[in-house]
Amino acid sequence: MSKEYTIAVIAGDGIGPEVVTEGLRVLERVAAIEGFRVRTTSYPLGAEHYLKTREIFPDQAFEEVRQHQAILLGAIGDPRIEIGLLEFGIIARLRFELDLYVNLRPVRLYAEHLCPLKDKTPEDVDFIVVRENTEDAYAGMRGFFKKGTPDEVATQEIIFTRKGVERVIRYAFDLARRRGRAKKLTLVDKANAVRAMDLWTRTFEEVGREYPDITRDHAYIDAACMWCVKNPEWFDTVVTSNMFGDILTDLAAMIQGGLGIAASGNLHPGQVSLFEPIHGSAPKYAGKNVANPLATVMAVSMMLDNLGEARAAARIEDTVAGLLRSRRIPSLGSDSGLGTRAIGDLVLENLEQKAAV
Ligand SMILES: NC(=O)c1ccc[n+]([C@@H]2O[C@H](COP(=O)([O-])OP(=O)(O)OC[C@H]3O[C@@H](n4cnc5c(N)ncnc54)[C@H](O)[C@@H]3O)[C@@H](O)[C@H]2O)c1
Repeated sequence: MSKEYTIAVIAGDGIGPEVVTEGLRVLERVAAIEGFRVRTTSYPLGAEHYLKTREIFPDQAFEEVRQHQAILLGAIGDPRIEIGLLEFGIIARLRFELDLYVNLRPVRLYAEHLCPLKDKTPEDVDFIVVRENTEDAYAGMRGFFKKGTPDEVATQEIIFTRKGVERVIRYAFDLARRRGRAKKLTLVDKANAVRAMDLWTRTFEEVGREYPDITRDHAYIDAACMWCVKNPEWFDTVVTSNMFGDILTDLAAMIQGGLGIAASGNLHPGQVSLFEPIHGSAPKYAGKNVANPLATVMAVSMMLDNLGEARAAARIEDTVAGLLRSRRIPSLGSDSGLGTRAIGDLVLENLEQKAAV
């Protein structure tokens, strides 16, 4: 009896449904090739559901979703609805209530011509960012005083806990060891100005002593942005806080070719985890068959790796890399000249003989 995985699917808004359709086609094909099964259940959450029912994420649906082994998400967000309402009620709720404390962002350039940096090759752009995913300014401790008056005060607390910082740093050290590349972990912070980040400095040193085989490295966030553009080859594994990770990983997406390829995992090791392209719902492209589905395809690859199907994950990644290197998929934006469906078709056609692409 082959293994079966249960996957909850939230396609969401805008281009979400189109890119998720392609991701699921790839998932089904790779499962057939590698000999495992997937059982997917779709949850029609997002703007349409909200406009019809005024429900954002019913508790019963949430309870069902969390019973799955993994969650695949497209994108949430619609201009008809108050900014942040659905994003917070769906994505942030999953991150916080499922305690998905690691946001994992591989930054890998698959073909030199996709990189906007001069003379940088796939050898130079191959690192992974571990972003803390449950604390920082995103914990929601905020308020307004005298709102709308000339005396208005707005606050939002930055929260770091020893437990939250330590677990993500430990995850990053383990990952640096597993990757076995340069065996280097870079802590990115702003401890010189945000003194609360001294907690990160101390925890990094303490936990790091348990990993003598991993070189400890450090960069302030402003310098890290600079190195990301100037010398991305200096990074191997990076660990950082929620807000700095949010910013750094979008910059990093650009040096790997753009939002059309960048995928992420929101993980709680050993428990249900969520995988998604990092792009949003790109409303202007919705329903036009121009969105690039490769970021979602790569999210499927990350999901399979996390479920223990490393061969299937590598098969997808190798296929995508081959199609990009050969320029059969010439670009990662909406200007590839290929539609969403056609890109999905190309991946499917080449999955079987991945080495030949
Ligand atoms: N995780 C999420 O679901 C998520 C993430 C970011 C933004 N959002 C939401 O998405 C909505 C739109 O936000 P935005 O415009 O700032 O970001 P976006 O990522 O949706 O779009 C930014 C631009 O990137 C391009 N783009 C993005 N994905 C693409 C793809 N797959 N193929 C081709 N081009 C692509 C488009 O040119 C688009 O205009 C907002 O409601 C926002 O809150 C959701």
